[in-house]
Amino acid sequence: MDGNAVSSGMSFSQDWFSPHIPHLSRLLAGLRGVPGLSFLEIGSFEGRSTVWFLQQVLTGAGSTITCIDTFRGSAEHSGLDVGWDDLQGTFRRNVDSFGSRVRVIEGESAVVLRGMPRQEAFDLVYVDGSHQATDVLEDGVLSWPLLKVGGIMVFDDYLWRMMESRPGPAIDAFLAVYADRYDLLHKEYQVAVRKRAMDGPPGRHFD
Ligand SMILES: C[S@@+](CC[C@H](N)C(=O)[O-])C[C@H]1O[C@@H](n2cnc3c(N)ncnc32)[C@H](O)[C@@H]1O
Repeated sequence: MDGNAVSSGMSFSQDWFSPHIPHLSRLLAGLRGVPGLSFLEIGSFEGRSTVWFLQQVLTGAGSTITCIDTFRGSAEHSGLDVGWDDLQGTFRRNVDSFGSRVRVIEGESAVVLRGMPRQEAFDLVYVDGSHQATDVLEDGVLSWPLLKVGGIMVFDDYLWRMMESRPGPAIDAFLAVYADRYDLLHKEYQVAVRKRAMDGPPGRHFD
C-alpha cells in the first residue's frame, strides 16, 4: 500500500502527496478493498492524491471518490510551473482510467459543500483545498455532517507555514470545538480524526 500513485500515461508537475503515504497507508489499511466506500476530497489539483486513494484503498467493488476543486490553484502556487490553463484537463486525464469511480465537482468548496445533501455519506474526507485559515475551518465544519460516524477526516498541512493565514490555527480551532465528537488518530504534518457516535435526546442531530 505504499505505491506512489503514478502509472504510465499519467502526468504530474508537483508531488505534495508522497510524504504522507507511509502514515496514510497505516491509517487506511483496514479500508483497503472494502466494497462500497465513498471518499470526499477537497482539493485534488492534478489528481496525485486522488489516484493514490483509488489505486491503494478504493479497490473494492463500487468504491468511489468525489473531488471538489476550483482548478484555479491557490495564492501560494504562483510561480510554480503548472499547466494552469488546463489543470482540470490534466486532472481528468490522470483519473480517466478509473471511469465513473471519480465524480468531479468544479467550484469553491464553501459553495459546493453547502449544496451537498446534509447526510452522513462519506467514509473519509480529505481536506486539502485552500490553505487560508478561514477556508480550512469552513471546509472542516461544512464537511463534518457529511462524514459517517466511524469515518475519518484528514486535514493536510497542519504544520505548513508559507503564509500568515494558514491551516494550523484553523485545525486547532476545529479540534478544540469538536473535541467531544472525535477520536484523534494522527497529529503530525497531517491531522486525522475518527468521528464518534454521539448520544443525545431523540429528534436532535449531534453531528
Ligand atoms: C495543495 S492542492 C491539492 C493537492 C492534492 N490533494 C495532492 O495531494 O496532489 C490544493 C488544491 O485546492 C484547490 N483549491 C484552492 N482553493 C480552493 C477552494 N476554495 N475550493 C476548492 N478548491 C480549492 C486548488 O485549485 C488546488 O488544486
